Amino acid sequence: MTQTELVPGLAGIPAAESSISFINGAEGLLSYRGIRIEELAAQSHFEEVVSLLWDAKLPSQSELDALSGRLKSHRELGPALSKFVLGLPQSGHPMEALQAGLAALGMVSPVLDDNDPASWRDACERIMGAASTLIASCERNRQGKELVTPDPELSIAGNFLYCLNGEKPDAIRERILDCALVLHAEHTMNASTFACRVVTSTETNPYTATSAAVGALFGPLHGGANERVLRQLESIGGPDKVQEWFERKTAAKEKIMGFGHRVYSTKDPRAHSLQELARELFKTHGSTPLYDTALALEELVTAKLGSRGIYPNVDFFSGIVYQKLGIPTDVFTPIFALSRLSGWLAHWMEQRGDNKLFRPGQIYTGRKDVTYTPMGER
Ligand code: SDX
Repeated sequence: MTQTELVPGLAGIPAAESSISFINGAEGLLSYRGIRIEELAAQSHFEEVVSLLWDAKLPSQSELDALSGRLKSHRELGPALSKFVLGLPQSGHPMEALQAGLAALGMVSPVLDDNDPASWRDACERIMGAASTLIASCERNRQGKELVTPDPELSIAGNFLYCLNGEKPDAIRERILDCALVLHAEHTMNASTFACRVVTSTETNPYTATSAAVGALFGPLHGGANERVLRQLESIGGPDKVQEWFERKTAAKEKIMGFGHRVYSTKDPRAHSLQELARELFKTHGSTPLYDTALALEELVTAKLGSRGIYPNVDFFSGIVYQKLGIPTDVFTPIFALSRLSGWLAHWMEQRGDNKLFRPGQIYTGRKDVTYTPMGER
């Protein structure tokens, strides 16, 4: 069947059949394997969500313990990868380091056996197991600090904070970050997941496929928005300056970071949950004036653009939470990637399980039958 009409950005065009997650954009509904995100955020934790996404059901305690044990067994980077991380430039962005780090992890891991799903699963667990240490270690290198040896007793969220800061996180911070990881894990056919599935369809390994997905997530229209939201709130300078800032922004036809979505035409359910996390953190760690600015901006944008379906998305409050957790702004998107690796790897396994190489068409708009003109005659 040849599609003759271009659909910009493939908006609404199904690229695959998937049973991993579901979104109802009009109702602001998101579910992982049928379980609503609000229930998972309130009752589950990230390792259990990894199991749910990968095995299509909530694990038994023994299944969860076994998976957690295997993920922890891959937490250490090892000498070759540690040396690679310490050799990375301290310039550049942590997402560029992560993209390189995932490819390098593949270089020091067993070669995938294309015909053995157990080998596929092992590779996915190696990536998910090492990711928290890898991302934190890249940031330690960027800050000129020594790497921290991961702690096998901590959760993925806890180990990330420990390897980033060199001290064990308090229970509240660990739980808040864990919940943020639950909220960012999976989101149907977003740009980075689509990138992952396209690369996977060539039958490559999950290291290069997730490295490609990191490249897609890095962009400001996608995962890169969370760090830009924080800088945007800082640049506004307070709730009383929101109106003037908004008028300048819209006059310049510039996008407002943290708002709008290809699928949601109402407030992103994850934005609601992240806003709650921020409020919970404020109770024990104090508030931030950026939150007041955020509330004023949300009120104005909703009033002005809500009729066009433009509301806060997942990136609008996440930066305020991460800043409160003491995480550097440049590391916000790598945290999104740490979480979304679980979703990307679920899609990697689903794609490999019933693969067809992605090779879409195009509508040619160039010239035809052009004669070559030798240099002397040009
Ligand atoms: C994520 O897909 C996913 O699921 C992604 C994600 C996930 O979990 O994987 O949810 C994560 O990427 C969230 C989105 C983070 N990005 C941002 O916050 C960047 C700002 N948002 C916009 O760039 C935009 O809303 C997109 C990219 C998110 C969605 O844009 P679309 O669907 O491509 O729509 P569009 O850019 O064509 O906009 C349609 C209209 C335009 O106006 P007109 O040209 O028709 O007059 O809506 C306007 C846009 O100008 N618009 C905005 C706006 N978003 C859309 N105007 C101002 N500010 C905005 N944020």
